[in-house]
Amino acid sequence: MNGLSILGTGRSLPDHIVTNDDLARRVETSNDWIVSRTGIRERRFAQGETLTQLAVAAARRAMERAGVGPQDIGLCLMATVTPDWITPSQACLLHQELGLPEDCPAFDLSAGCTGFLYAMETAAAMLPRMARPCALLVGGELLSRITDMDDRSTCILFGDGAGAAVVKSTEGAPWHALLGTRGNREALWAAGPGNHPAYLHMNGQEVFQFALKTVPELARSLLDKAGMDRDQIDWYVLHQANHRILEGVAKRMKVPMERFYENIGRYGNTSAATIPIALDEMAEQELLRPGQWIMCLGFGAGLTWGGAMFRW
Ligand code: UT7
Repeated sequence: MNGLSILGTGRSLPDHIVTNDDLARRVETSNDWIVSRTGIRERRFAQGETLTQLAVAAARRAMERAGVGPQDIGLCLMATVTPDWITPSQACLLHQELGLPEDCPAFDLSAGCTGFLYAMETAAAMLPRMARPCALLVGGELLSRITDMDDRSTCILFGDGAGAAVVKSTEGAPWHALLGTRGNREALWAAGPGNHPAYLHMNGQEVFQFALKTVPELARSLLDKAGMDRDQIDWYVLHQANHRILEGVAKRMKVPMERFYENIGRYGNTSAATIPIALDEMAEQELLRPGQWIMCLGFGAGLTWGGAMFRW
């Protein structure tokens, strides 16, 4: 059976850095509270950049690193809940900007913070039937668009950014993935359009508990599916939502934190973008070496969750 190989990654973040002290000037909070409860020190908010610009920049980097051109892309998927336009989709805007071929279908996936994992597994299923060998996957959000900057329970958490990967369907490449959904509109939601302002609302405690229970179970199920042990995984790349969630998952799984990549301190929670941004940083820092086992795990609005295990 075919699995996915990642040929190249890219990322793009807005220039404007917003520190915890900046937010504390607007809402009643403090740097100490935010750092101790979330691990976040700063995030990026777009000031003028569109999601299309960030997505295109991340995609171009990924294609360059993969050594592929538009003619190699047979599927273009964009995971986002904050597209620039309602229609055409964000993926179509990307398709136009990049000059992708007409036999390359392009569409958006809305699965909250699990979006990139949904995109990976969709590509794994669809790519063998596509006309060209590679898929372009982008996870990107301008969450600042739907964040109430006067709500201290959410505005401290979220950030903007985009990450991308070029993947190829490869005969014999190891690939194990699981996706799940439990329909729930009370834990994490943004209503609209037609319900302006369509701000993000969250029952933080509920999402926190959901993540701590679901993610270790998901990891266990993936390992069982692959017939592998947790110690055989070189890197756990989790959705970056809260440092305490990363710590809690590591503890429950009895895996040292050193094997969990973490960058939440710099970007906050960029939803569907956190995992591809993390992979790109890890590749750039040469933390990822050929043959290593990677497990990516995501969770978020839906409620949705998803995991993928593959070799670098
Ligand atoms: O991407 C997936 C989606 N999101 C997540 O995964 C987020 C999951 N949840 C979390 O990360 C945490 O629940 C939060 C970081 C959102 C909140 O941390 P918490 O430890 O669960 O705090 P809490 O909601 O239980 O609130 C504790 C207190 C409350 O005050 P009282 O009622 O104890 O007086 C809040 O009003 O902290 C207060 N509080 C704040 N204080 C200072 C809430 N937000 C803030 C704030 N600054 N920004």
